[in-house]
Amino acid sequence: KKIILVCGARPNFMKIAPLMHELKNHPQLEAVLVHTGQHYDTQMSGRFFEELGIPAPNINLEVGSASHAQQTARIMTGFEKVCLDEIPDFVLVVGDVNSTAACVLVAAKLNIKTIHYEAGLRSNDRTMPEEINRLVTDSISDYFFTTSADADENLLKENVAQEKIFMVGNLMIDTLEANLAKAAGAPQVFGLLNKPGKIDINDLSASGYGVMTFHRPSNVDEKASLERLVNIWGAVSQQIPLVFPIHPRTYKNIQQFGLLETISSFPNLYLIEPLGYLEFIHLVSRAKFALTDSGGIQEETTHLNIPCLTVRPNTERPVTVWEGSNKLIKIDDIEAEAAAIVRGEGKTGNNPKYWDGKTAQRIVAILETL
Ligand code: UD1
Repeated sequence: KKIILVCGARPNFMKIAPLMHELKNHPQLEAVLVHTGQHYDTQMSGRFFEELGIPAPNINLEVGSASHAQQTARIMTGFEKVCLDEIPDFVLVVGDVNSTAACVLVAAKLNIKTIHYEAGLRSNDRTMPEEINRLVTDSISDYFFTTSADADENLLKENVAQEKIFMVGNLMIDTLEANLAKAAGAPQVFGLLNKPGKIDINDLSASGYGVMTFHRPSNVDEKASLERLVNIWGAVSQQIPLVFPIHPRTYKNIQQFGLLETISSFPNLYLIEPLGYLEFIHLVSRAKFALTDSGGIQEETTHLNIPCLTVRPNTERPVTVWEGSNKLIKIDDIEAEAAAIVRGEGKTGNNPKYWDGKTAQRIVAILETL
């Protein structure tokens, strides 16, 4: 059987890595890896392939950045040709990015069986591009691999047949488990973007620091909301130093909205380039807390049992709140919540079922039977 695996954007790479590794043990499944090129910088893509040992993609569609419609259309046009050339038995997509929805749509129209890993997650917030991608993908996929029981319930409510749903656990945690020890050796001296010089995390870790990431369009694409956030981050950094590996979307907006001077005025707010995977998980694993609007970091901090403050009105990953160390908070509450963590009152929790490093094994065992 031939299976095309699709990846496109940064959060896809840690999900594809353990699958590619496990598939090597199953030569009767022929894997073809397609990178759409949605993310293309070394920092957003290349480093993840190197560090996670992902084989070079068989095909790179090189679509690059564009508006949603343009990017989706380019992926579809390129991927249609790939499917026609390769004639796979299955197309497997992961996550909820534009590459996910675009490729599943192409495959379904060509009557190729489709598989969605990370199916069934719902924020119930259709202003998020990822929610649209999740709904589109799950409405036409044939098989559904899920990370938690709430996702199964969402799919059942949407009339997906129970026998098509497989609760397999979390591939991100396979990658985290496989790399934590190696990450402990990753360099932790980073050049600063908002002032001259470098920061050595070893100097910060004695007194404690928070890790911060923000890139959701709803938080960073408008000047007023980004400016408000910048000032709040500054205030929090006076309680505890904050290390901020900044996503290109956010950095471009900070520059464009004239906020670089403000963000540079806070001595304990350290803006650095987006990190590679090993550097990032080492940074998170030693942090007092994370302050974020990311999806994946909610899961990684839950597994590491590190308090996570997620600045969003909702989450498609509620198990991280019900069981894990994640808390959804409003922008207005960031300072008070961070102060509580500094006082040692951060939320702790438990690791959800099957977030155990063996998800790729479970998935590939099921792929053998489809
Ligand atoms: C995408 C995903 C989002 C995911 C995020 C992780 C969609 C709809 N969104 O959002 O779900 O959480 O990836 O990063 O698929 N850019 C670079 N270099 C790159 C890639 C992008 O500089 O390698 C810049 C470009 O200016 C681009 C901007 O970042 O316009 C945003 O990239 P894009 O892929 O459109 O969306 P993300 O915000 O990264």
